[in-house]
Amino acid sequence: MSPSPEELDELLEQAVAARERAYAPYSDFRVGAALRTTDGTVFRGCNVENAAYPATICAERTALVGAVAAGHHHFDAIAVVGSGPGATTPCGVCRQMLFEFAPDLVVHAAGTDGATMTVRLGEALLPHGFGPARLRAAGGGTAP
Ligand code: THU
Repeated sequence: MSPSPEELDELLEQAVAARERAYAPYSDFRVGAALRTTDGTVFRGCNVENAAYPATICAERTALVGAVAAGHHHFDAIAVVGSGPGATTPCGVCRQMLFEFAPDLVVHAAGTDGATMTVRLGEALLPHGFGPARLRAAGGGTAP
């Protein structure tokens, strides 16, 4: 079932709380994410930067890997909030990582000015994305 606007607002509150823990001394662009499993569990994430800049991990992936490490593979919504005005939408790498588990994921993206954008990952952010279904369709793969 699709998350209601109220549920997305609640998820966004968790993303805002998660952003408090962002470690972003290099960009000062702080991001928080809250990823909801289909059983209603929420995993929070923040961006964690590194002096070796490319080693940085985004808030969305921090939430995702925490959830997977806890045994969850089914997700229905993610809220993301960045810094500054306008909705912060997931970067390309995060879109791909999320697509693996949830092509229909509802992405509720926000900015500090209250701007929000709500879209489905596979429809609006990664159309025609490459995922396990493609490997399955080819047969013989090991995709779940
Ligand atoms: N970042 C995220 O955490 N999520 C996004 O959706 C966009 C970018 C982080 C990565 C880096 O720490 C900082 O924002 C600036 O790119």
